[in-house]
Amino acid sequence: PIQNADTDPHDRQGFAHFMLKEIYEQPEVVRRCLATYLKPDWNSDRDAALPATPFNLAFPEALFAVAEIQIVACGTSRHAGLVAQYWLEQLAGIPTRVRSASEFVSAPFPLTTNTLTIAVTQSGETADTLAAIEVAKKRRSQSDVSLQSWSLGITNQPDSSLTKAVDYTLPTLAGAEVGVAATKTFMAQLVVFCCLALAFAVRRRVLSPQQLVDTIAALRLLPDQIETTLKQQHEPIQTVAQTFTDVKDCIVLGRGMNRAIALEGALKLKETTYIHAEGYAGGEFMHGPIALLDAKVLVIAIAPAGNVYDQMLANAQKAKTNGAPLIGITNVTESSDRAVFDHQITVPAIDELLSPFLTVTPLQLLAYAIAVQRGLDVDRPRNITKTLIH
Ligand code: G6P
Repeated sequence: PIQNADTDPHDRQGFAHFMLKEIYEQPEVVRRCLATYLKPDWNSDRDAALPATPFNLAFPEALFAVAEIQIVACGTSRHAGLVAQYWLEQLAGIPTRVRSASEFVSAPFPLTTNTLTIAVTQSGETADTLAAIEVAKKRRSQSDVSLQSWSLGITNQPDSSLTKAVDYTLPTLAGAEVGVAATKTFMAQLVVFCCLALAFAVRRRVLSPQQLVDTIAALRLLPDQIETTLKQQHEPIQTVAQTFTDVKDCIVLGRGMNRAIALEGALKLKETTYIHAEGYAGGEFMHGPIALLDAKVLVIAIAPAGNVYDQMLANAQKAKTNGAPLIGITNVTESSDRAVFDHQITVPAIDELLSPFLTVTPLQLLAYAIAVQRGLDVDRPRNITKTLIH
């Protein structure tokens, strides 16, 4: 069952929990976001070499020429911002900074001209994120230099306080999310950010027509690939979860864009299972935190094919040498690699650049399965609220 405009988001539709229902809605959410942000009549054979953008983003031309992008957000939304930082820098070549909204309030980025400030918030009501946008606006209005700047909100609530505070809003179209742990709204934030980064890349002519055609074709495959991941991996993940129901500490490792997914996976585990989980960049983990490892600490390595694969495998080997049980999330299936991981979760093949779309779902399912096996209230974890309004 999939939530669409006609179905009640507060009906679990046969799923045991809202979190699971919302994880399963992700293929449809991606489909819906792509249908909204990708022009349906854009034809790769005909239009790829033209400056015409394939994206429905009505921004003034000057906005596409920004010198810098600043992203403020909290929790899961900040993790979407960290994936986006990669896309905006590596795909579109725009220097991008990300700061927790709460940190930005006391330590804002230096004022620069030609800047786009993006606030990301599922609810559109998170107090810290709203405060950060107010600080950014106030600093600009008080500056004696005339600063050309814009603000953009990415939110699942188009009527929220955020939309009133920013110049432009891009809705994430995920439908109401009931589970406290954000899942489908994170996925939708990724789609919106990816389209945004690609739109910038096209306008700034830093993407070749072939890269554009390939990336759009890959984006269009995503809903089916997420569906495949759910179909093929849900049961195996439940089995893996049984092995680790009582684990107390977990380290999630990722590199590049998947560092943000490691942070998000660790957050999902913390929020729903209360396991002490930390996400690290694979390289940084070697500089100290590796001392934590022993046979009781679960390590999850996010190792998609691509530039960082060999390094991730080296991290995994090192963890194994130190006695840690190891789960690998990968789309590389050669037998020699299987030997490294005690448990391998396989996701469909995809360009590394888009791999976060596929590596996050196994982590959501794992957190969900462990939380259920621990008998916890998955949809309403202790001590946290869906939206922190003060
Ligand atoms: C709370 C929730 C988190 C969420 C964060 C940001 O802390 O517990 O799960 O990621 O708020 O929420 P937002 O609505 O701003 O995305």
